[in-house]
Amino acid sequence: MRTVATFADVRKGDRGSVALVPTMGYLHEGHLDLISAARRSSDTVVVSLFVNPLQFNEDVDLAAYPQDLARDAALAEQAGADMLFAPPIEEMYAEQPLTSITVAGVGELMEGDHRPGHFDGVAVVVAKLLAGIQPDRAYFGRKDAQQLVLVTRLGADLSFPVEIIGRPTIRERDGLALSSRNIHLSEAERGAALSLSAGLAAAASAVEEGETDAATLEEIARARVDAEPGAHLEYVTLASQADASALPALEVPAFLAVAAGVGTTRLMDNVHIDRVDGTWVPDLGSRLDRPSILYGEA
Ligand code: PAF
Repeated sequence: MRTVATFADVRKGDRGSVALVPTMGYLHEGHLDLISAARRSSDTVVVSLFVNPLQFNEDVDLAAYPQDLARDAALAEQAGADMLFAPPIEEMYAEQPLTSITVAGVGELMEGDHRPGHFDGVAVVVAKLLAGIQPDRAYFGRKDAQQLVLVTRLGADLSFPVEIIGRPTIRERDGLALSSRNIHLSEAERGAALSLSAGLAAAASAVEEGETDAATLEEIARARVDAEPGAHLEYVTLASQADASALPALEVPAFLAVAAGVGTTRLMDNVHIDRVDGTWVPDLGSRLDRPSILYGEA
């Protein structure tokens, strides 16, 4: 695997079909799943690693974001990447961009509401990665469900010749959704954090039993988080997979998303709900059968 720092170097040579896995580093099994899927689909697998300042609302959050290039390079290589694109800030933003991208509607609720400007920053960096790397496919985790909707619309609206592929969430054995931010959780906070996945699992069971009302599903998930004194709910919303708008009921493919603060860490999780043979089927993703690499490093 080669580590390169410029878009020009990423595009050099005969690449065949190209898959991109955009990351902000501190890789975990969720990213490794994206890289393995990319490996199966394409001749050249590029993993990008760039902690994008445009998408952080607070400088402390940006400063606290874990970074370890040597660690990530080893993991990306093991998972099958051909190239690690780790650009310096000057390659990405030689000047403060004057162009802004707002994916109207999609970025307004949920994360958009709680993190003003966040999705505009994501949209700009993803557009730059797609334009600069020119992949045929780009892989994103469904864990960031609203981001996946946003990126899918961005790609379609701006005619990027790329297929956007979402992959199911990967979880710890106990259900906690993998996130690089989990390394900031203390043991007690990890316990409190489980209220998010427990709430979603309870709502998923209700869906399996035929519940389709948004307020009811949201209340089931909310009750679990509210019962946990260490978790502070920000929102729980049933939203459309097509445009991330809030839904009154399960009537189109949806996701039930939850966000909460646990200590100083913000956590997000969701369950995707698709219609299969006329029945609503929830998908919480999959659980590892061993502690994740992040857990060992917490
Ligand atoms: O999901 C992430 O890690 C980031 O938001 C992304 C897509 C790499 C853009 O910086």
